[in-house]
Amino acid sequence: MKRNTLLAAAGAAAVAAAVAFGATPLVQASESARVQLASAEQMAAVKERQELMKSIGGNMKAIVDFLKESKGTAAEAQAAAAKIGELSQKIPAAFETEATLDEMDAVGKNRGKPEIWLNWEGFTENAKNLEAKSAALVAAFEGGDSGAIQTAFGDMGKNGCGGCHDDFRGPKVE
Ligand code: HEC
Repeated sequence: MKRNTLLAAAGAAAVAAAVAFGATPLVQASESARVQLASAEQMAAVKERQELMKSIGGNMKAIVDFLKESKGTAAEAQAAAAKIGELSQKIPAAFETEATLDEMDAVGKNRGKPEIWLNWEGFTENAKNLEAKSAALVAAFEGGDSGAIQTAFGDMGKNGCGGCHDDFRGPKVE
């Protein structure tokens, strides 16, 4: 208590001095206690799943580039759709380690909602759903009908990706 009052009165210079002398100012200790610290395992898990999602996003972009901007070939876009199906199988394992939004500050820009672990079955169902929708898109590419491709692509984006993001992904962290 006495140290607290003293630090508050003396200001930042005194805090710096106290840190330099190896003392932990009580003010700082009580503030950091409010943010739950993430374990190394959680940090690694969040990084891994964000990388997985980025990779899924990169393949999505390849399909968008082809459909909307005529960049690349249909074969490349089809391969990207197949890759999304493959990557979707890795989603459950990548989210096994719990790290909820409450711990966001401690684990970087984690946007995984607590609902992932409260409703694990629903979450993994969404991963399976994406797998099915990416397979439908691959099939549409094989068929070669551009209307069917657009429909399958829209369905995958809206319901395959968007469905899960709506329920299980929190707001963007600045
Ligand atoms: C089973 C649920 C689920 C599905 C299906 C899903 N996502 Fe995600 N996605 C998430 C969650 C949860 C996050 C937040 C992860 C985090 O921040 O820890 C996320 C994050 C992302 C990110 C941001 C990654 C970053 O941190 O930079 C991108 C991009 C993304 N998803 C793209 C997609 C695309 C494209 C699809 C569909 C082809 C898709 N996702 C399907 C759950 C899902």
